[in-house]
Amino acid sequence: MKSLKTLGQFIIEKQADFPYAKGELSRLLRDIGIAAKIVNREVNKAGLVDILGTVGDSTNIFGENQKKLDVFADEQFISALKYGGECCFVASEEQDEGIELIDSGISKDAKYIVCIDPLDGSSNIEVNVSVGTIFSIYRRVTDVGEALCERDYLQDGLKQVAAGYIIYGSSTMLVYTTGKGVNGFTLDPSIGEFCLSHPDMKIPAVGKIYSINEGNYSKFPQGIKRYIKYCQEEDSGTNRPYTSRYIGSMVADIHRNLLLGGVFIYPQTASQPQGKLRLMYECNPIAFIIEQAGGKASTGTQRILEIEPIELHQRVPAIIGSTEMVDRVLDFITQS
Ligand code: AHG
Ligand code: MN
Ligand code: MN
Repeated sequence: MKSLKTLGQFIIEKQADFPYAKGELSRLLRDIGIAAKIVNREVNKAGLVDILGTVGDSTNIFGENQKKLDVFADEQFISALKYGGECCFVASEEQDEGIELIDSGISKDAKYIVCIDPLDGSSNIEVNVSVGTIFSIYRRVTDVGEALCERDYLQDGLKQVAAGYIIYGSSTMLVYTTGKGVNGFTLDPSIGEFCLSHPDMKIPAVGKIYSINEGNYSKFPQGIKRYIKYCQEEDSGTNRPYTSRYIGSMVADIHRNLLLGGVFIYPQTASQPQGKLRLMYECNPIAFIIEQAGGKASTGTQRILEIEPIELHQRVPAIIGSTEMVDRVLDFITQS
């Protein structure tokens, strides 16, 4: 029988690869893994208990209805980071402002900043479709003891020291990178551990899947419209027509495309000129993972990881996936 390697064992094994290697980042990743298991337990119970529906008239700063599980997941991750002691500042998609944790005693020497989308694809919970969590980790720029400032929590994506996602799907997986490749772990519910199941993940250079909300077609930029038509054309040489797959949970769409090859697009539209997805909570971490797996991530005009962030809740257009497919989309954009 093959022996299992747990997430905890893997993190310790890889700790020597980290530039600072004092175990702090390892502990931070472990804390995130523990919160993920708690959220997973609640997501799995979603149909059984009275956890569905909205919390009163609670809406997040984008005016979107927050589901109960959004709130639950947000609380779980923030409290895991707060009591873990390795995170000095957490920015959550569900919170208007970032939260400083350095006053809370245990975190006073903490060196890491975490940006998190605690529950991605939350509109899919009530229909039993996969949802996820996305996280991004930076090292603070200021010294311990100094006041935290924008330079700490508005760093470009290239400065990420780790990023990952959890997909609560037909099985639950945690996929992460620390800049040395991408590894995937599947939760074994019988022992309650994430176990290494997908070592050194690589996205195929080209695939057959395009993922975009085509309902917005009339509002898309010309280049994107022409790319969609290209996907639908018949051409045996390039294996077209491609297959359209769109779940509406970025994590799930990205995860499938990472395994099978494909391109995920959320462009700017006439009504959302910056697109919909958030740079700090969604696009940067996913871009880091996909690049580490050999893929590519662009806004259409710029590499996502090179964007200098202006604010925590910033939105950007996203074209992410198999390198050759992303390049093809960029060709259509420049030709239009
Ligand atoms: P969230 O649930 O965190 O707000 O994220 C939803 C995001 C993303 O997961 C998904 O790809 C996209 O919104 C779907 O948007 P549309 O419904 O506009 O296609
Ligand atoms: Mn999201
Ligand atoms: Mn969310």
